[in-house]
Amino acid sequence: MTTRIRIAAPVDVDAIFAIVNSAAQAYRGVIPADRWHEPYMPREELDREIADGVEFWVAEDGGKIHGVMGIQDRGDVALVRHAYVSPGLQRGGIGTMLLRHVLALTAKPVLIGTWADATWAIDFYRRNGFTLVAEAEKNVLLREYWSIPARQVATSVVLADERFDRTR
Ligand SMILES: CC(C)(COP(=O)(O)OP(=O)(O)OC[C@H]1O[C@@H](n2cnc3c(N)ncnc32)[C@H](O)[C@@H]1OP(=O)(O)O)[C@@H](O)C(=O)NCCC(=O)NCCS
Repeated sequence: MTTRIRIAAPVDVDAIFAIVNSAAQAYRGVIPADRWHEPYMPREELDREIADGVEFWVAEDGGKIHGVMGIQDRGDVALVRHAYVSPGLQRGGIGTMLLRHVLALTAKPVLIGTWADATWAIDFYRRNGFTLVAEAEKNVLLREYWSIPARQVATSVVLADERFDRTR
């Protein structure tokens, strides 16, 4: 079987919901306890994210979805949002395929926010050419481009690709 990347259709939302919440088990006991809840991303939140312009792409093999990644246009920049690969298939290159695909969809600088404690995710983005932005700037960026609570700002990091102007 070969993995192919395609844009998500409305019928895929159940599968996206399932992958996000099974892969997000990686956060349990790692991210701050007050930020963990189950399911990690309630269905209403996923629906709201899609309504707010997160465009999901899926990695599919033999008709089964194994990974998902969203991209959201935020004006000056694009955000990579909600990157998740099925737990049994992680570290097999699916995340990299999805990331390369969504990066090629935009000419804008791309930013990614993740939990400061999710060291594997930070490694994943670094090996794909992203670098961490400085603490003071990440607080500004998270408030400017994301809609997340203050506590999540404090416990998150932002990575940027080479298109992002660090002198702005
Ligand atoms: C992060 C994630 C999307 C990456 O997708 P993937 O298909 O596993 O990644 P790839 O196989 O393309 O790349 C693998 C690299 O990512 C990093 N990585 C991914 N999972 C890792 C893990 N569990 N432990 C350590 N490093 C990991 C490593 O750098 C790894 O390279 P290596 O195997 O040579 O050490 C996926 O692992 C995942 O869903 N993780 C749980 C949820 C999550 O953290 N999502 C990120 C939200 S911002």
